[in-house]
Amino acid sequence: MKVLITGGAGFIGSHISKQLLDSGHEVIIYDDFSTSDKSSFLSRNSQESETNNEKRRTIIEGNVKDSKLLINSLTGVDAVIHMASFIAVEESVKDPYKYIDNNVLGTTVLLDSMVKAGVKKLVFSSSATVYGEPESLPILEDAPLSAANPYAASKIGMEVLCEAFNKTHGLDVIILRYFNPYGPGENHRPETHAIPNFIKAGLEKKVVPLFWKGEQVRDFIYVEDLASAHVAVLNLSGYQVFNVGSEAGVKIIDILNKLSDIFGYKLGVEDLGERAGDVMANYASSKKLRETTGWEAKVSLDEGLRKTVDWFKLLKS
Ligand SMILES: NC(=O)c1ccc[n+]([C@@H]2O[C@H](COP(=O)([O-])OP(=O)(O)OC[C@H]3O[C@@H](n4cnc5c(N)ncnc54)[C@H](O)[C@@H]3O)[C@@H](O)[C@H]2O)c1
Repeated sequence: MKVLITGGAGFIGSHISKQLLDSGHEVIIYDDFSTSDKSSFLSRNSQESETNNEKRRTIIEGNVKDSKLLINSLTGVDAVIHMASFIAVEESVKDPYKYIDNNVLGTTVLLDSMVKAGVKKLVFSSSATVYGEPESLPILEDAPLSAANPYAASKIGMEVLCEAFNKTHGLDVIILRYFNPYGPGENHRPETHAIPNFIKAGLEKKVVPLFWKGEQVRDFIYVEDLASAHVAVLNLSGYQVFNVGSEAGVKIIDILNKLSDIFGYKLGVEDLGERAGDVMANYASSKKLRETTGWEAKVSLDEGLRKTVDWFKLLKS
């Protein structure tokens, strides 16, 4: 298949494009580098320039709101994986327009451009954030949606638009709701996620900022397992929604203790108390995805954390 990945230069998109190329697909990475580092992305890719993968990969620098460039880029494409999005919750609270403009308007332009270019299939990167504070655990795909912040609202809006284009234009739409991805390559600016921030603090022997005394429960999914879910759903059709999680609820304090074991010393903590708007506990049921596609999360939390620490050590050296 020829697959265009919007936001394909980012943390998760880079892993998806590698797996698609490794499975023989052709990949177009479509990214405006608004939140990823262009020079390190290009230098990573030039290191692979002699491989077969490179021959099946094209990089297009562009914004999803540029419909002309997008329609041209979509020529001959079989499927789109739509990752391009701003993702920082706190920033979305301060500047909601930025999030609605980039995420929701961007998705509208993409869907319209797909119709105009005759592309019939979309895999959309959604998030567990669309569930808000869940009524029961584990979370199933038919749980009610609730936006706790403008980023979550933008993700719900993007999902609903995808559904509307399935109904009005017959697009095949597969929605993947990620739980908490982590792993090598995660280096957002700003970084708001626990695991990379804990590892960076650990490597620099700084204290780790901790809310709720680390009692919050999350479902951490290793990025390569998350990426393989995209390959697994590429042949599905219709309108389908799947959770992608490891299906294990883990306290943040347990992550900290595991990282202390890996580092070989106890990480110090700065207690930041409670934080308004935080969800206390969420973890997925990914039974639907497992049973529909045979996908499974293969990398244990201990192994995933070790690989992630190794990656950050290399980055620092
Ligand atoms: N990382 C997480 O914890 C997480 C959790 C749930 C869902 N998601 C979703 O997964 C997707 C990817 O997340 P990530 O962690 O890889 O983020 P990332 O910031 O590393 O990657 C996003 C990429 O999209 C690009 N981009 C943003 N807006 C664009 C636009 N208008 N046009 C073209 N390119 C644009 C950025 O330059 C960046 O390379 C996002 O849709 C996000 O909402 C992420």
